[in-house]
Amino acid sequence: MCLVRIVGLPGDPGIGARLAKYLGIEHISVFSKKFPDGEIYLRILEEIENENVLVVQSMYPVQGDRLVELLLALEVLNRYRNKVSVLITYLAYARQDREFLKGEPISLFSIIRAMKAQGLNSLITIDAHNPLAVKEAIGSTRYFNLLPGEIFAEVLLGKYKATELTVVAPDQGATERATLLASKLGCGYVVVKKVRDKVTGQVSHTFDSLDTVSDVAVIVDDIISTGGTIAGIASYLRNRGTKTVVVASHALLVGDAYERLIKAGVEEIYSIPTIPHTFSSVVYVDVVPFLIRKLGEEGILT
Ligand code: R5P
Repeated sequence: MCLVRIVGLPGDPGIGARLAKYLGIEHISVFSKKFPDGEIYLRILEEIENENVLVVQSMYPVQGDRLVELLLALEVLNRYRNKVSVLITYLAYARQDREFLKGEPISLFSIIRAMKAQGLNSLITIDAHNPLAVKEAIGSTRYFNLLPGEIFAEVLLGKYKATELTVVAPDQGATERATLLASKLGCGYVVVKKVRDKVTGQVSHTFDSLDTVSDVAVIVDDIISTGGTIAGIASYLRNRGTKTVVVASHALLVGDAYERLIKAGVEEIYSIPTIPHTFSSVVYVDVVPFLIRKLGEEGILT
């Protein structure tokens, strides 16, 4: 059974419609609203029964609302016996992937298991914070995580020579991301040691590994939220005369995060449109051709 419909939920950053257009299949929108007391209502605007469906949703902003919309859509699609794959362009609650302090929930497990309970057939994420933990939570349900290193590499190699570049992972968790990007760029990478205070959330780095970085540092991360993780590293690099560019899949850029990064010496920020709002000063790389290729390779389109 090949993919016959794409359902774009309210958080979809326009990716569902573009995928559908490219594939020549139907894109179905939903109607959603909030009741006066704040509860979410959702209705899929066409009947879909016993079909192969791809649901597209991003979970920011607002994380809780976007999660509820997804669970509601899964309930109705499952009840009508559809085979449902879900593409989550930005997976929220992914950073609480273990119990750091006694009594904390593993938020990631909680949301993935809620989706699984509504009967999804496959889950696809773009640059999830910790894909191994998603895998652990989702168990036997089909799951894969797409790392967009190759599309960022193509853009960077249009501007820089590989010999000028060193990829910087801002913490140990970004090592796989950095390895992939460095291999696509044909340059080296270093990993900065980061420690986050479990109670205050305050971040501190050990910078020794940055001493071997060449002329242009490419800091690669999954998320830029407050910019705190990257700003500290960028300031250090600026003081040693290194140009810094940042590559991050999910540019949430909360509050004054953008200004904070520029003030710290970041000269360019590259991202992909995984959330519905974009920032004029960020360079967004088109992710749709990459998604078509990867979803095809994984058999989601056939
Ligand atoms: C955490 O480990 C993530 O990979 C990101 O490094 C983090 O979420 C970035 O957050 P912020 O921009 O607030 O430092």
